[in-house]
Amino acid sequence: MQLKIFADYHSLSEQCAREIASFVRQKPDAVLCLAAGDTPRLAYTCLRRIAGNENMNFAKCSFIALDEWVGIPPESEGSCYFFLRENLFKPLAIAPPQIHVFNALSPDLSSECERMDKLIREKGGIDLMLVGVGMNGHIGFNEPGTPEDRYTHVAELDDTTQNVGQKYFKKRTKLRFGITLGLRHLLESRKAILIASGRKKADVVRLALEDPVTTKVPASVIRKHSHGLVMLDEEAASALNNGRAGTP
Ligand code: F6R
Repeated sequence: MQLKIFADYHSLSEQCAREIASFVRQKPDAVLCLAAGDTPRLAYTCLRRIAGNENMNFAKCSFIALDEWVGIPPESEGSCYFFLRENLFKPLAIAPPQIHVFNALSPDLSSECERMDKLIREKGGIDLMLVGVGMNGHIGFNEPGTPEDRYTHVAELDDTTQNVGQKYFKKRTKLRFGITLGLRHLLESRKAILIASGRKKADVVRLALEDPVTTKVPASVIRKHSHGLVMLDEEAASALNNGRAGTP
């Protein structure tokens, strides 16, 4: 795993977008799995600009959404799909057959998990996975305690995730379960980027990067990924004791 620390959220986001763009240039038919959330928002803005300036073509890429809130319809402004659609799919003119998201309204969520796992297998696995980290150390909705060998599954969300998740919604919303790709998908992806920004993430970043790898802090598994890249801004890195070696 490699660690890169950037001065601020802007430079972190710019470099993250460049990582994605250069990956797609090298592998135009890449299978990309992308997180929603506040952290990658600006990286996606930068990616849109780079794509426009450099006339990038995503027509052969596949896009897989990392996760979704169970029971939340796709047109809800707080859904992961809505976020990815507004920030990436629509502006980059990604065609519907290239987009693979969860149906979080399905009455049969275990079939939904199987469908996603099968799709990823048939595509030959995930090439690039971009994830954020939750305040409780989660990746996607792999909550603390999730075993590393899980593929797609439905997770009962812990209190932190249920409360922090309210920030995506205009009014209080019941968020009890999530459907998510698993940590095994992360570990099997050809490249995994974890990004974190802001002082509020500093403690969980330190736990993930400096304490022993543990399922109690799911983000810590990124350290087992031989092509894992952790990208932080100075604030998110501010609690690290020995993380400065990775400063670009
Ligand atoms: C969202 C997702 C979540 C977030 C995490 C951080 O698709 O998978 O795990 O990445 O909760 O969220 P933000 O970026 O809003 O701090």
